[in-house]
Amino acid sequence: MRILAIETSCDETAIALVSAEDGLGRPRFKILKNFVASQIKIHAPFGGVVPNLAKREHLKNLPILFEKCQASRIKHQDIDLIAVTVGPGLEPCLWTGINFAKDLAKKLNKSIIGVSHSEGHLYSFLLPQKTDLEFRTKNSELFPAIALIVSGGHTILLLMKDPTNYKKLGETRDDAVGECFDKVARLLGLSYPGGPEIEKISKKGNSNAINFPRPMLNQKNYDLSFSGLKTSVLYYLRDNKNVKIEDTAASFQTAAFDVLISKTLRAAKEYKAKSILLSGGVAINSELRKQFNLRIKTEKLKLIFLPTAKKFCTDNAAMVAVAAYVNYLRNKKYRLIAQGNLTLK
Ligand code: KG4
Ligand code: ZN
Repeated sequence: MRILAIETSCDETAIALVSAEDGLGRPRFKILKNFVASQIKIHAPFGGVVPNLAKREHLKNLPILFEKCQASRIKHQDIDLIAVTVGPGLEPCLWTGINFAKDLAKKLNKSIIGVSHSEGHLYSFLLPQKTDLEFRTKNSELFPAIALIVSGGHTILLLMKDPTNYKKLGETRDDAVGECFDKVARLLGLSYPGGPEIEKISKKGNSNAINFPRPMLNQKNYDLSFSGLKTSVLYYLRDNKNVKIEDTAASFQTAAFDVLISKTLRAAKEYKAKSILLSGGVAINSELRKQFNLRIKTEKLKLIFLPTAKKFCTDNAAMVAVAAYVNYLRNKKYRLIAQGNLTLK
């Protein structure tokens, strides 16, 4: 089956054509086309995503990306199903994708399926990647798994019994971790998006310089919280003179990752997980990957660490195609309307 997927939930316009085969136990994917038009430069002067500007850019970019797909000899017959993100995200932006997908489905006489953006991140580990060989050979050894989605909009811990069945264990009660990186970056005078800037500057800093709080670390549940950590950085900057930005960034980053890793590994122990699946924009961070590997080693855990390939961590439409295929096989349907607050259950 060939799926044309459309993603416009935030500030990336993305279209992908993905071929999918095999059943729920071992779905397999091949990426035929994958285009992303990033709006980072447009939103950067405002320090965050401006919904109306994002909508305008999606409207402009969608036909351009679709043209690009066709220019690369994709014909109408090559598409079996059209998939589109319906939430969560910015509703004016979601509508641009949904309306474009609906028009296209009508014009090409194809079926259409709504997709949860969060499930896109969650299932992105199924996309072909460097560790694909490892995934395929050890598939049976990966589950049950603990999945951690960390992005600008999500921070969710899930238990996966097999590649396509999940149960939410916990999530952030306030800011998403990526959102917290973006806000702290702004406090430090760094540009948007803040995550990559904080990672870069932290390399020159001492991560033990400031002992920032680890919110909810010692609570037994799997919920998380990041707004208090952001406020601690704000107070630290307000109350101290001669602050070293590098040390502040590195200490903040370590505090945030400490909570994420500790809670994920605790869940892995409780549910006797065989692997950790990491996805979302923050999962690009090399220090997070390094710390995960270190902690797995020092705590002598028998865990396979399987982060999504970096190019599929940030928003893209290939992951939307994967989630569409999984739900198509399970006959799980989302309504074709923008659902800004759509959550994983
Ligand atoms: O998955 P994504 O592209 O969009 C959402 O679904 O939110 O994630 C974007 C988020 C932003 O908050 C950005 O600052 C963060 O991912 N991010 C990072 C890094 N690269 C992107 N956070 C920490 N370290 C990074 N290297
Ligand atoms: Zn995302």
